[in-house]
Amino acid sequence: MNSHDLVIVGAGLAGMRAALEGVKAGINVAVVSKIHPLRSHSCAAQGGVNAAIDPADSRESHAYDTVKGADYIGDEDAIDLMCQVAPECILEMDAWGTPFSRLEGGLIAQRPFGGASFDRTCYAADRTGMVLLHTLWEQLVKAGVQVYEECSIIKLSKNSDGHVAGLVLYDIKTGSIYPIQAKAVLMATGGYGRVFISNTNATTNTGDGMALALRAGAPLADMEFVQFHPTGLLTSGVLVTEGARGEGGILINASGERFMAKYAPNRKELASRDVVSRAEQTEIIEGRGKNGGIFIDLRHLGAAKILERLPQIRQLAIDLEGVDPIHDPIPVRPTMHYSMGGIRTDKYGETPLPGLFAAGEAACISVHGANRLGGNSLLDTIVFGKITGERVSNYVKGMSTTPDFPMSDVEECIVEFNNLKHRPDTGVKAVGLHTTVATSINLNCGVFRKPEGLNKISGEIDGWRKEYEKVSVEDKSDVFNIDLLRAWELKNQIDLAECVVRGALARTESRGAHSRTDYTERDDKNWRKHTLTTWNESSQKVDISYGEVRTVGNPDYVPKVRTY
Ligand code: FUM
Repeated sequence: MNSHDLVIVGAGLAGMRAALEGVKAGINVAVVSKIHPLRSHSCAAQGGVNAAIDPADSRESHAYDTVKGADYIGDEDAIDLMCQVAPECILEMDAWGTPFSRLEGGLIAQRPFGGASFDRTCYAADRTGMVLLHTLWEQLVKAGVQVYEECSIIKLSKNSDGHVAGLVLYDIKTGSIYPIQAKAVLMATGGYGRVFISNTNATTNTGDGMALALRAGAPLADMEFVQFHPTGLLTSGVLVTEGARGEGGILINASGERFMAKYAPNRKELASRDVVSRAEQTEIIEGRGKNGGIFIDLRHLGAAKILERLPQIRQLAIDLEGVDPIHDPIPVRPTMHYSMGGIRTDKYGETPLPGLFAAGEAACISVHGANRLGGNSLLDTIVFGKITGERVSNYVKGMSTTPDFPMSDVEECIVEFNNLKHRPDTGVKAVGLHTTVATSINLNCGVFRKPEGLNKISGEIDGWRKEYEKVSVEDKSDVFNIDLLRAWELKNQIDLAECVVRGALARTESRGAHSRTDYTERDDKNWRKHTLTTWNESSQKVDISYGEVRTVGNPDYVPKVRTY
């Protein structure tokens, strides 16, 4: 059996950054990835990464913006830590060769982003995630880290003492199922955007790491807080970076009216994302949109600026919407982008399940609270990839033995996959059931959440689970059987959808991205707390409890009405 000190799941920015800490610590570290690392979803992050690197800026100001943007439910010790470490992490990436855009004279260029009181978003045109990813991949190759490519994790295994013992893998290339033993596992599997029908996420973002951690006994936190990015392309959901508004792009409705001043008089298009998404959705609901969307207009920026700063956006708009932003506004709409919730950890990425750590979007550390600021996600990956990687490396160095691996887990997975693959044709296909789930959650648990919608979807979950038991796959082959993989992933997506819906129904207030039409105010007295969802083996459903928000006593962080 393959055995490592540490197995990191996910080869996006958080996973690769953590792996480098394992190398530095001299432990035996391996990375598992469903796809080639350079295709990880981090590469889709466009607009930039925040850090107070300008002497006129300060990490306190960055932290304050983040606490406020998070609508006062982020953990302040973790936010302070992230903002403190941010500059050194950016400079480290710079030293490793990340080709950031530069000012005349050579300093790293920074642009304005939503909810930020200073222009602190470092960028590389509109391809920031991609260049960061390439930089870390070079370091990983240089260090010779073993990568299990095109392997999906299908079980998080524990020994008889309840300590993590490793993982069961499904090798997508061959169809084989086998164990990897480990002293600790770090989940860096990203988010679950594909649970929503309109999303900016890659097809791989099905939340497997979160779902397996949940089933293994780790709590998830704040799953009801789902970020809708204000500018997903209307028909495909593909991201149009917030950097487009940072560079001066404006939002207009079907009559060509710039509407953001009505909703956020000071910051307008650069209010925080929850505010801008609600403004857009209001325009659409009140009949001032077109085909379910509104427009981002870049024409006034001129061809030269668009080609220099937003070349990818221009090409995506041409390829996917048939409009050239130099000449026409781009149709967009609020689109599921990011999960503020995830596997609950402390500020070092450690979970309550012994031997399990998490970082990046898969984790809820929680630095984003109820609403993440643009540019803080790439930051979260490189900061907490580093911090968690260091922490877990020390953890495994302190272990004298590797936990026994329960081989019965492998047998169970083989049986589960065989049953799914060879189930006689029932006519129920994963793609159809996924469309039902993802359409319903978009409609009933989206930008605005109505009580009737939440109750409706809550009543649908048991039916989805029953329907899932009937899913059959057409492809019976072993090699790259994506039909089988998608069918298996759907179970994870239903589990996560249940966490989102149960959390949203229970939280009778509006905060950040969770906006209820029946409870429109933030209620700090009763709801300034984290939602925790845990898996209940006997009912085969999720249970809900609550945990404290960690505060640091900074008077600037006391909850206020947010105005932009
Ligand atoms: O709009 C963007 O470029 C996305 C950035 C982010 O989600 O942080």
